[in-house]
Amino acid sequence: MPVIAIDGPVGSGKSTVAQAVAARLGLAVLETGAMYRAVAVLALRQGIEAGPAGADALAALAAELDVEAFDPAELRTPDVNRAVSAVAAEPGVRAALVPRQRAWIAARGGGVAEGRDIGTVVFPDADVKVFLTATAAERARRRGDEDAEGVARRDHLDSTRAASPLVAATDAVVIDTTGLSVEEIVERIVGLL
Ligand code: DC
Repeated sequence: MPVIAIDGPVGSGKSTVAQAVAARLGLAVLETGAMYRAVAVLALRQGIEAGPAGADALAALAAELDVEAFDPAELRTPDVNRAVSAVAAEPGVRAALVPRQRAWIAARGGGVAEGRDIGTVVFPDADVKVFLTATAAERARRRGDEDAEGVARRDHLDSTRAASPLVAATDAVVIDTTGLSVEEIVERIVGLL
């Protein structure tokens, strides 16, 4: 079962690169961030906050989650961008979602998974582990309509949380994507197989 793990901060190119690598190799692609975002949508709707008071309720939402039921646009609103890191820091949420991520890839006989903890936690034995980076200026250019302050806050929370923080696996290949075309990045990743 070929598994390619792609991690990195906001604007590092994960999503675009994961799609392109998957298309090249004929593999499925799993954007794990969508699952955390979907839990954040439900938490906002139901007024559940991360932290001691909401931890059990959030874990229950994650356990029952049907990510297919969400419109991709509703996963990317400014409210969700603001709320998602606190939701993703809940160990109970991660404990519910990680086995589902493994099962999703296993059911497809392998695939490309992207997120923050794929190479460290979800697939520590992945065939290829890549950690994408880019300069702050390049990441700012790519981040879409998410404001710079919000991105910096989200990356800080994602990198400093206790549960599965954003960090390169010791055996990940770090690729600075600044100035590289998607095709060049895909070539490098495919060359690692
Ligand atoms: O990749 P994204 O921006 O859609 O991810 C949204 C948030 O979800 C991100 O700020 C942190 C969290 N996340 C995570 O904790 N672990 C993952 N594997 C993927 C995303």
